[in-house]
Amino acid sequence: MLHRVNLNNVVVAILVVAALGALISGPGPKIGERQSFPPTPAAIAFQQAEEAAAARQTEAQRQAEIARQVSAQAEEETILPEGEGRAETFGYCTACHNTALIRRSRFSRDQWDGLMDWMTERHGMNPLEGEMRSLIVDYLASHFGAAQAPARGRNPFLN
Ligand code: HEC
Repeated sequence: MLHRVNLNNVVVAILVVAALGALISGPGPKIGERQSFPPTPAAIAFQQAEEAAAARQTEAQRQAEIARQVSAQAEEETILPEGEGRAETFGYCTACHNTALIRRSRFSRDQWDGLMDWMTERHGMNPLEGEMRSLIVDYLASHFGAAQAPARGRNPFLN
């Protein structure tokens, strides 16, 4: 009798300890489970370095594409949409690069006008003035205007 009571007490004590243990440890992470901590400074720096590398790669691709288009020259005037000023635009604007740079662009008249100065100041294009300038800028604005539908296969990184 005494022996049996003692045994029961032991079983009850073990159960109580086990229940308390479960209560105290709560629903926390199990062994082998990863806990998520806020990123360490090293992890943040790594992430930033990766983003910077991706941005550099995008820029390098953009430059390579521009270089390719600047060097590829063989084109006919008819690659540009028909309209007044096409011959002049083709003649004047393909001295340094083909028309791909133009065809993929969508600018307002003001922007095209500003681009003429930029091309002169930055890339040594002969200054374009007077009637010839308005003819070409009008042509560009009406065929490659800001409101025009995007060019076929237009790449957002190249604009
Ligand atoms: C003297 C050489 C030269 C002439 C002539 C020239 N360009 Fe350019 N153009 C360049 C170069 C070089 C670039 C590439 C610039 C760069 O690094 O993005 C360029 C770039 C461009 C771009 C791309 C701008 C951008 O970043 O989106 C357009 C559009 C363009 N030219 C239009 C014209 C038009 C229109 C004409 C004729 C009126 C013209 N170009 C004549 C040298 C020239």
